[in-house]
Amino acid sequence: MGIESSCDETAAAVVRGRTVLSDEIASSADVQSLYGGVVPEIASRAHTEAVSAVVERAVKKAGIGYGDLDAVAVTYGAGLLGALLVGVSFAKAFAYALNKPLIAADHIRGHLAAAYTCAPDLEPPFVTLLASGGHTAVLYAESEGKFRILGATLDDAAGEAFDKVARVLGLKYPGGPNIERCIREGNGKPVIPMPKMLKGGGGYNFSYSGLKTAVINYCHTMEQKGLPYSKADVAASFQCAAVDVLVDKTMEAARETGVHTVTAGGGVAANSYLRQRLSEACEAAGLRLVLPEKRLCTDNAAMIAAEGAVQYRLGNFAKMDLNAKASVPLAATLGGH
Ligand SMILES: Nc1ncnc2c1ncn2[C@@H]1O[C@H](COP(=O)(O)OP(=O)(O)OP(=O)(O)O)[C@@H](O)[C@H]1O
Ligand SMILES: [Mg+2]
Repeated sequence: MGIESSCDETAAAVVRGRTVLSDEIASSADVQSLYGGVVPEIASRAHTEAVSAVVERAVKKAGIGYGDLDAVAVTYGAGLLGALLVGVSFAKAFAYALNKPLIAADHIRGHLAAAYTCAPDLEPPFVTLLASGGHTAVLYAESEGKFRILGATLDDAAGEAFDKVARVLGLKYPGGPNIERCIREGNGKPVIPMPKMLKGGGGYNFSYSGLKTAVINYCHTMEQKGLPYSKADVAASFQCAAVDVLVDKTMEAARETGVHTVTAGGGVAANSYLRQRLSEACEAAGLRLVLPEKRLCTDNAAMIAAEGAVQYRLGNFAKMDLNAKASVPLAATLGGH
């Protein structure tokens, strides 16, 4: 079982091996949207109210009994501390009552483990693109337990850039899906010039702050001059610039490391243009592409259960003094326990 409560969604899922048997979610997004963002205290209270029922539903929908569970994995970090504590406290009590092992799952490793749920035969080595709300990196998976960072963002994460640009365009959070919707109102062409995005430079590192500033400056300049502009054109031009660099650097990393497989994870991996570009590039290069289903790219508990299964196989179990952590450095996350 995997339990995830790092932000505003309370989620629980059951996997058997790499097969997702159930994946339940309760969101406090409707309440949060009244405040224009996630209020940590509201999130924690909503988790407390939802967690028992969500876990019960996940077990029922999996068609198993509580006693059939092998282990209980829970996101211990990173995320909102109060929100994480609800999941961690519940998981401890749940595991203790069932006399099953407890597993500390890292949220980011969960995003990466999501790929396992859609490819029973996926084995390292492979190159993976991590593109989420708080992280952007190209990684080399050496083994199930160990990833090496080939490059990462020097400033904003890709998802953060989608969210900030969405805000400038007057679109709601989360930015990614709303930017995709906005683009569909135009012809989807990148007609507005955008900065180069460390293309061909900076190794496998990324920088999104220049792109974000370019969009803000374009919109403000047009507004100050009283000139009309197409939000769909801005969104499409931004999306191409933001995504192309992710694809180019991932493919370059795959070529340089000589892997045969590429995977991706994190909320931005749900982006249709990114998925299409990656799939075209992998096909052209003769590489296998493993993309988690879209709903398993954004935060969910199936990815935490999948990461739990990885740690279970590696024999990494947590003690009952497990604590929640608001932040976990990426290098520590990826180096294994
Ligand atoms: N279709 C999409 N296109 C582009 N971006 C998307 C899409 N769907 C979601 N996102 C982005 O993904 C992010 C949310 O996903 P994710 O769960 O990976 O982030 P997070 O949990 O906030 O951050 P992290 O996992 O790094 O801690 C948001 O920034 C959102 O805009
Ligand atoms: Mg996430």
